[in-house]
Amino acid sequence: MDKQSLIKEANKIREKAYVPYSKFSVGAALLTKSGKVYHGCNIENAAYPVSLCAERVAIFKAISDGEYEFDQLAVVADTERPVPPCGSCRQVMSEFFAKDMMIHTSNLQNVIKSVTMDELLPFSFSQDDLESSQK
Ligand code: THU
Repeated sequence: MDKQSLIKEANKIREKAYVPYSKFSVGAALLTKSGKVYHGCNIENAAYPVSLCAERVAIFKAISDGEYEFDQLAVVADTERPVPPCGSCRQVMSEFFAKDMMIHTSNLQNVIKSVTMDELLPFSFSQDDLESSQK
């Protein structure tokens, strides 16, 4: 599946966003190496911090299905510039995505900014840092 089709998938799931508080709908589509697409939309809660971003919904759906090999991710929102994923999502992405994996961020005008995982979150805290502890 190409980048443009994955963005289309992200745009489609965006319509399912549960956003009574922010009214800001986000859609994400995660392509596995085996060719499967996991979709996610943001899901908010009256207790605001409990809300979950579209990217993490897509990633957690895939992980809970036993999928760990990812090819590309697309994220779409109605923003002026391609929507930048939040810091928490970047950290979750860095747990599961290779440093050279492509993340396509976009908006409703189809302006696309594609970055690698390493460009999105350089110098990220990882399992290696835990394991290098001297304790
Ligand atoms: N949101 C996402 O779903 N992904 C992001 O990367 C940015 C923010 C959601 C969280 C919340 O439901 C709404 O957008 C406004 O912050």
